[in-house]
Amino acid sequence: MTSLYAHFPWCVKKCPYCDFNSHPLGGSLDNDRYIDALILDLNDQRAKHNVARFNTVFFGGGTPSLFDPADFERLLIAISCEGEVTMEANPGTTEHADFAAYARAGINRLSLGVQSFDAGMLQRLGRIHSARETEHAFAAARRGGFDNINLDIMYGLPEQSVDQALEDLRHAIALAPEHLSWYQLTIEPKTAFHSAPPPLPDETLIADMEEHGWMLLREAGYRRYEVSAWSQTGHECQHNLNYWRFGDYLGIGAGAHGKVGRQRTDKAKAPSRYLSAPLETNMRTLRDGDLRFEYLLNALRLVEGTSWNTFSERTGIPPLADEPIWKRGCELGLLRTDRVATTQMGYRHLDSVLTMFLGDG
Ligand SMILES: C[S@@+](CC[C@H](N)C(=O)[O-])C[C@H]1O[C@@H](n2cnc3c(N)ncnc32)[C@H](O)[C@@H]1O
Ligand code: SF4
Repeated sequence: MTSLYAHFPWCVKKCPYCDFNSHPLGGSLDNDRYIDALILDLNDQRAKHNVARFNTVFFGGGTPSLFDPADFERLLIAISCEGEVTMEANPGTTEHADFAAYARAGINRLSLGVQSFDAGMLQRLGRIHSARETEHAFAAARRGGFDNINLDIMYGLPEQSVDQALEDLRHAIALAPEHLSWYQLTIEPKTAFHSAPPPLPDETLIADMEEHGWMLLREAGYRRYEVSAWSQTGHECQHNLNYWRFGDYLGIGAGAHGKVGRQRTDKAKAPSRYLSAPLETNMRTLRDGDLRFEYLLNALRLVEGTSWNTFSERTGIPPLADEPIWKRGCELGLLRTDRVATTQMGYRHLDSVLTMFLGDG
């Protein structure tokens, strides 16, 4: 199974917490030039890695919704994918969006960057939309035929109370999306929030938000299948599941990463550089120790982990179940013997579990 990730590196404005490869769009967007570059990149990588078809496609950003349905139509004809095709959208860019046209172009899953429904918080996060615009975008997407929608919500926001965090979640649940990504805000290096850190809720408040938030989500019929990912039955994100299960994917576009077996690919991050050399791809090959740590870093994020068969199939390394470090994790009640998975207790202490494997192997 091979997936395709295509990166769209521009946003209307850079949010102060964001460390993704996103750049404020100064002037006008040259849609055709970027789509041409993506198609060249796609055809080149797909020939090199001998990929006939893709199982899932993800248009991420940045803000892909700055591009028109016709751009995606052209791109999707070149890609050809029968499976899940997701586009990320910022509700501040969809005021006049023709969602039905995005759907006709072949996009069948939408991921809306909502973050919060609280006006003051949205302003603090530097967002370019209001809660009303989010609601409009959601309703317009439904009218346009989207029956698989994800909402991104963040918690642990500057000076946020437990009630405020839960209110955001209730608001999101009331829209009844098929999928909810509930992320704890992290302060990343080289962001505006890193240079001027806002006051964040302490650990006790965060634990309270999580305990009550998880309960709300479960009561509303969502099932957690990854650290931050919750879905209604049958609506897990197939594209992200492929990442977490260590499947292969090609990455096209500025700053996109790809993985084929042991090989990792990276594209130039700066949009201008990428546009002038879309075929330039950096490649490196992972050694056993890195491969196995990367696998665990991904698979253990999944509530159910993966089988040992999948582990061996995708890394070429024999199962670790009999190795002292895995046995120790089992004795401590953190890891399972039968699968590449944590126990419930291990899942609650995932960071410590992963630290056990850092530098091992
Ligand atoms: C690449 S962004 C794409 C969405 C779109 N650009 C937008 O913001 O509307 C994906 C999601 O990552 C989450 N995110 C970004 N930076 C984060 C941070 N520092 N901490 C936690 N979540 C973050 C946000 O919820 C965001 O919607
Ligand atoms: S709109 Fe999304 S990708 Fe762009 S800066 Fe904000 S969080 Fe990052």
